[in-house]
Amino acid sequence: MADLVARFRDVFDDSGPVRVVRAPGRVNLIGEHTDYNGGFVMPMALDRVVRIALVPHDRPVVAIWSVQFDERAEFRLGETEPAGAPHWLRYPMKVAEVLAEAGVALRGFRAVVDGDVPVGSGLSSSAAYEVASALALLVAAKPEIPAGRAAVAAEAHGLTSQKLALLCQAAEHRVGVRCGIMDQFISIHGQAGHAIMLDCRDLSFEAVPLPADEAAIVVIDSGVQRKLTAGAYNERRSQCEDGVERLKAFAPAIEQLRDVSLEVFEAHADALPETVRRRCRHVVTEDTRVLESVEVLKAGDLDRFGEFLNASHDSLRDDYAVSGPELDLLVEIARGVEGVFGSRLTGAGFGGCTVTLARPEAVEPLRAAVLEQYPRRSGLEPRIWVSEAAAGAAVEQ
Ligand code: GLA
Repeated sequence: MADLVARFRDVFDDSGPVRVVRAPGRVNLIGEHTDYNGGFVMPMALDRVVRIALVPHDRPVVAIWSVQFDERAEFRLGETEPAGAPHWLRYPMKVAEVLAEAGVALRGFRAVVDGDVPVGSGLSSSAAYEVASALALLVAAKPEIPAGRAAVAAEAHGLTSQKLALLCQAAEHRVGVRCGIMDQFISIHGQAGHAIMLDCRDLSFEAVPLPADEAAIVVIDSGVQRKLTAGAYNERRSQCEDGVERLKAFAPAIEQLRDVSLEVFEAHADALPETVRRRCRHVVTEDTRVLESVEVLKAGDLDRFGEFLNASHDSLRDDYAVSGPELDLLVEIARGVEGVFGSRLTGAGFGGCTVTLARPEAVEPLRAAVLEQYPRRSGLEPRIWVSEAAAGAAVEQ
């Protein structure tokens, strides 16, 4: 991604003033599959981003060169689906669609896009791409927008940063996954050095400082590409909705699993079919783990936070059934390393990454243990990153 501006000039032979926008991927520390149930999540933004360099023009056409796919494609603003469009073009297309519906008067542009958020690893490369696309479209439509946080670009169009996240989420739904709000929200609202505790119902949030000198956050890619995710993910979501419908019979005020306390769940769990019961139990207990995690993190109790991470993974594995042998293996290896507080799968599951909280001096032993055991026991090559919480999306220039 070294010099995207030079790449732009090279591809398009254009000497116009280039704007650059970026949006990060994320790792979720705790609060998995709670967002679409109106609950709580605690992700942080990564220092890995999708970046777009662009120059607006007067034609209603968005032409993009993708460095990662080594391919150029374009769409006309207002057009629904150009024949033969590559999959990666659908993200900016759907974002343009929802922005136009929200009243943004769009203009076309030419752009080069590149990124270092691994694709298909559960670190939200698609949310990063949606948010970066949204910023590119907003900046192209109003070139007077200055460099700065995403909120500034949103406000220039009469949108809040929350609304911008919701629009990017709507775009993802149109691509095919009925995702919650977490990924797009954190990509926009991330803060350096902090996790963000988000209430997914009213979108209020709090930045929780992460003690980088006491705990490192290690992201490990299992090398299992997430497959069939849309189907299995949407199925989990429907099972939660099924649980809500059934629990409503006992407490009509319940609208989402967020409204179900552990006590109410336990009192009526027998009325739920086995699978639905397990799915609901994960979500209800996970919400309590997030709320308690915020408290112990603020109190500096990393041991206790680690226990919540472990409990989250076990619940995702046993009740939500979104783990797999490779993710379980990575978690098992990590938990066996001295100085590791806790380890769990992160993101939707079905492959992708784990997140591990470890004392800084435990990072090298952890790396060594994973490199020694994981390939031998899984036949796969892991990728390991130590990540610091980064800032959210921005107009860079
Ligand atoms: C994916 C979705 C999010 C969230 C997580 C699971 O990342 O995009 O909205 O549901 O899975 O926590």
